[in-house]
Amino acid sequence: MHPDIDRILIDEEQLDSIITDIAHQIDRDYAGEDKRLLLLCILKGSVVFMGELMKKLTVPVEIDFMKVSSYGAQTKSTGNINIILDLYRQDLHTCDILIVEDIIDSGKTLSYLVDYLNLKGAKSVKTVTLLDKPSRREVDFQPDYHGIEIPDFFVVGYGLDYAEKYRALPYVGILKPEIYTH
Ligand code: IMP
Ligand code: MG
Repeated sequence: MHPDIDRILIDEEQLDSIITDIAHQIDRDYAGEDKRLLLLCILKGSVVFMGELMKKLTVPVEIDFMKVSSYGAQTKSTGNINIILDLYRQDLHTCDILIVEDIIDSGKTLSYLVDYLNLKGAKSVKTVTLLDKPSRREVDFQPDYHGIEIPDFFVVGYGLDYAEKYRALPYVGILKPEIYTH
């Protein structure tokens, strides 16, 4: 285990079974000729989850990417959502967008993005998150699909970072608090 990690919260085997479950639900809901599923990965934290999820889906998918920031190098959301990489497509009115997010904390990022993509004219917009910290919610927001609810720990790994580190860890781990409180 990485020396900056206090303990592993979700190991590789659990992550695999959580994502398999989500993929089954999405397969069921997006089957059918009238659906055109666009997985929209929110960079950078969601890249590992997205990669695993898309391999497990059997319905046809297209993929795209947006990059937003709400966190600085700190462990608290600023609440201001900045779009750093936007979604430029002419065919949004035919796309059933599923926003793929690593974790929901305050809920501000996803509630903003859902409104934004609806305003841009997407055919439908839903959300999937691997991790959810419901106790931290500041706006009323429920994802359409979620992997697992976790307590209010700052976690890293499996795409999630602290100051751009730890994204490549194959598990979700609780970061030792002394790493970010000094
Ligand atoms: P929200 O807008 O407050 O819901 O923030 C969601 C974003 O905050 C996620 O996409 C992550 O980038 C980041 N975030 C929230 N909690 C954590 C955490 O425990 N570890 C790493 N990043 C986090
Ligand atoms: Mg993120």
